[in-house]
This record gives sequence, C-alpha cells and structure tokens, in this order.
Amino acid sequence: ASKTRTAFVCGECGAEHGKWQGQCGECGAWNTLTQIVLESAAAAASPAARRSSWAGKVDPPKVTALKDVLHREDARTSTGIGEFDRVLGGGLVEGAVILIGGDPGIGKSTLLLQALASMAGRLPALYVTGEESLAQVAGRASRLGLPLDGLSALAETGVERILEQASQMQPKLLVADSVQTLWTESLTAAPGSVSQVRESAARLVRYAKETGTAIFLVGHVTKEGGIAGPRVLEHMVDAVLYFEGDSGSRFRVLRAFKNRFGAVNELGVFAMGDKGLREVPNPSAIFLSGSGRQPGSCVMVTREGTRPLMVEVQALVDASPLSNPRRVAVGLEQNRLAMLLAVLHRHGGIMVGDQDVFVNVVGGIRVQETAADLPVLLAVLSSLRDRPLADKTIAFGEVGLSGEIRPVPNGEERLKEAATHGFKRAIVPKANAPKAGTYKGMDVIAVERLADALEAAA
Ligand code: TYD
Ligand code: MG
Repeated sequence: ASKTRTAFVCGECGAEHGKWQGQCGECGAWNTLTQIVLESAAAAASPAARRSSWAGKVDPPKVTALKDVLHREDARTSTGIGEFDRVLGGGLVEGAVILIGGDPGIGKSTLLLQALASMAGRLPALYVTGEESLAQVAGRASRLGLPLDGLSALAETGVERILEQASQMQPKLLVADSVQTLWTESLTAAPGSVSQVRESAARLVRYAKETGTAIFLVGHVTKEGGIAGPRVLEHMVDAVLYFEGDSGSRFRVLRAFKNRFGAVNELGVFAMGDKGLREVPNPSAIFLSGSGRQPGSCVMVTREGTRPLMVEVQALVDASPLSNPRRVAVGLEQNRLAMLLAVLHRHGGIMVGDQDVFVNVVGGIRVQETAADLPVLLAVLSSLRDRPLADKTIAFGEVGLSGEIRPVPNGEERLKEAATHGFKRAIVPKANAPKAGTYKGMDVIAVERLADALEAAA
C-alpha cells in the first residue's frame, strides 16, 4: 500500500486536521485549510522510519533520568551584531533553527548576509539563495564591504541537493533564503505550496538537529500577515523573528515572536543605509515624528523587551459617511481599539459611534503592551476635539473595562526615560506615579479613572 497520506493544515494557526472542513476547529478561521501531502503511508507505518524522523536515530527508545542526559549549556555564538544577539537571547545557539519573517524588501537578506559575513571567520557558513543569483549576492556583499572569508554560497532550491552539498561542506551555519522557494523531490506538489514549504523546512530542521548546524530560514510575510502560507513553520522552529518597519522610514525593528532560547518581545533596532543595516543601540526617541504639537498625537513610553522606547501614537477621528464607521489600527491590535472606544463612550462619556477612527503607531512599529491604552484614547480625544495635548506631554497606562486606569510594569523607568528626553508632563496610572507629584522636574499627573485622565488632557 503505497498510498500517500494527506492532511489538511490551517494557514492561520498551523493546526492539522484529518479531513477538510470549512472552519478550522482550532482557531475558528474560515476557509484556511489546505491539503498537504505527508510521507507515503508505507514509510509512515514503519516504526523505524517514524523514530528516525526527528533525530535520525534508530536505537530503541528508553527512559532516561534527565540529570543523566548529556547536554551543553546553550553555548552561544555572537552574531557580531549586538542588536541581533539581543533579540536571539544573547547570541546564536548551536543547532537552532530560526525563522526570520518580514515583508519583501524590508532587509532580511541584507541582515543575514551581514551576520553571516561577521560570523563566517569563526564558523564555516553557507548562504543558500533561491531568489537571487550568486552574482547578485556577491555584488551586494562587496557593495556592503563585507569580509568574505569562510563564507560560501549556493544557488539552489532543491532540498535534497542543498543537504547533499551541506553534508560535504559541513557548515556550522546555514541560511536558506527563502523558505518559499524550497522544494523536495519526495512530494509532487508545486514549489511554493504549503506542502512543499512545510516538508522542506522539516528536512532542514531535522538536519540542524542531527548535525548541530544553526539554520536561518527566511520567510516572506503574506498580505494577511502570516509567514506565507505556512504559519505551520512557527511550530517547527526554535525561534521566530519578525522584521518590521515602515517602507518610508529607514528604521527597522527585529522582534522575537517565539524564542526557545530567550525572551520574547525583545526588540533590536536597525537603520537601513547605503552600507546596509546599522545598529541603533540607543533607539529611544527615533519613533517620534518630530512634528511637534499636533492634534491627534500622543507620545508614550513603551517597554517592549528590556528597554524603554518613546513612541508616538497618532489618531485621526473624522465624521463617517458610512453607517458602520471604520476602526483601523496600524501597529496596534484592532480588537483592542474597538474595546477602548467602547470604554471611552461608557466611562468617558465621549461618543465616536458616528466617526471613522484611525490609529497609527509612528515608524511602522508594533506596540503590543497594554500601556498603549491610555495614549491611544488621549490621541483619539485630541483628534476629536482638534486640540493638541499640552506641550511635552507623555502618557502610559492600561485602561480597564470599568474605566479604571491600571498600573503597568516599570513605571519609574518609563518616567525616567521621558524626563531624559525633556518631557515636562506625564499622565500616568496612580500606582505608577511618585507621591511627590513630580519626577526629575516633570509634572506627574496621577489618574485613577478614565474621566480623570480625560480631564487632565483637556
Ligand atoms: P533585502 O535585504 O533584499 O530585503 P528582503 O530580503 O527582506 O526582501 O533589502 C532590500 C532593500 O534594502 C532594497 O529595497 C534596498 C535596500 N538596501 C539599502 O537601502 N541599502 C543597502 O545597503 C542594501 C543592501 C539594501
Ligand atoms: Mg531577500
């Protein structure tokens, strides 16, 4: 029985289902299931084949006390790029598989080429390109002025041939750019299909675990936001990093979305220039628009990862011609905005039901923490009234469903950052405010309820 086994994978959450259904039973998304081909039934049925599928070992399995298992403290190799190391959790771990996702053109290939060149002197490295020719890669490397010792490249998309070359060369570091171009001979599905991307990535993951080679997989993000088709890959790899940024701005943020070897939500900040990506080790104020006092703008201090960052939240509130006005959040969660507007109505007495509301975080970065709640509402209020907030004002704080303003972690550190950047006034949760009402020359207005905050901003 050499019938091939198939399954259905959700493009949204990566869940696997035995049969097709219109809605994913895991995440509830509609029409996201794609059929994928698994290994042939005969191979799948063989226990030896199944055992070998992960670590390549065919020894019978046995139970072992964990303390007797030989392991190395995650020995880390610096990428030579401090901001990259920070996001990885302190450097690269042997045998780790890291998916780097981002929009086309954001700088994924540039970052990896720079990192590879910087590590290649210490670790033999192989750059596998499925998108650009070798001449293009070499051209870019020389334009960036990168040292090329120890760096080899291969223009190939077939996984079998890539692994064959890798087995000969034995690199300690491999980049596959991009995972969407990879395909394996064992499947008949078209290159770029979910089946192919998934199985090809699985082969590389297996190879990384067997040989201790660290592998970077580059993945383009689709319009829907997932790494093209296979969100599936996120489950297979050790770390998922997203490269974000506004195409109009030269700043780029690398964010750990999943990391088995470090903290998530750690940010690395870079600036794209004519010599490639340059680190921005003190990024605090680069996400301010610099346009000064404008209606609909509120500066906040966010703390993503381990350091504070000043970012500007902008809102545009405008009478809507639609019976169902628009709520659009860029760089923030959409549902959170809808919730905040409901709280604004119920507990702030401010009605935007007949208005379109657009909210944007300046610089193309994404703010995930709830400390953005209060700044978002202050920006909305300011736009609605067409009146800027008082000069040099910052805000942060979570807004609860009953209109209470809740404290956020690291309040003092945020205040300190704002004071350092010359802000004069802060609207913050009561529990985050110093008793004295001032902090390093900054007036700190402590608020307990949304209504107090709105009044303080008026
Ligand atoms: P690239 O790394 O090719 O993006 P990705 O691999 O994510 O698709 O980066 C492409 C963009 O970066 C391209 O629009 C040109 C710009 N760029 C610079 O501005 N300076 C440089 O030194 C390099 C190499 C690229
Ligand atoms: Mg590229």
